[in-house]
Amino acid sequence: MIKIENLQNHIDYLERFGATSFPFLNPEELEQIRHEIASYKLTEAVKKKGLGKVYQNFLEAKIYFDQSPLIENTARRLEEYLIHLFKQHPVDHAFIPDLCFNEARIQQYLPVGEFGIGPHKDGSRYRNVIAGLLVEGESCFYTCDDNKAANPELIPAEPGWCTILGAPGLFGLKSRRYHFVGVVKKTRTVIGFRQDVFSVLE
Ligand SMILES: [Fe+2]
Repeated sequence: MIKIENLQNHIDYLERFGATSFPFLNPEELEQIRHEIASYKLTEAVKKKGLGKVYQNFLEAKIYFDQSPLIENTARRLEEYLIHLFKQHPVDHAFIPDLCFNEARIQQYLPVGEFGIGPHKDGSRYRNVIAGLLVEGESCFYTCDDNKAANPELIPAEPGWCTILGAPGLFGLKSRRYHFVGVVKKTRTVIGFRQDVFSVLE
């Protein structure tokens, strides 16, 4: 496991593994987020999803930004952080189109002794980065080379950390990396932030 401390480490990690991670929230901010999302009613996600019938096992809830200023503010701060981080990169525009998270979703994985979600690629409608803010539990997020989970690489994270998976648009990237959530040993709650090019901000 590599400790990621500076831009070059993030670039290297993104190039090698398709994802990187970093501490993002302090304990007080994390507690506010925990308190905020505790009131959401989670529902079970469909067990098999997409053409490849990818197995998944988690609870989820959509977050509407206009109903949660704290979560919207967190999304905007994350955009600022990433824009600031990657503005040192030699590529003129690290994000195409401009980075703007327009979707947020709580995903909660329970310790049921199975993969949280099998190896898959996210939809091509998601651009730049797919971000996961770890609210509780352990990372369990891996990138890999194919739908059989070849060469898995755990992307390290602790509660308060954010993991970003590169998506089309980041540094001109066109391909999408396989990834999965492995066996979860204790309840793992994440807020996922995405930029869906076919969705408008709510
Ligand atoms: Fe995914």
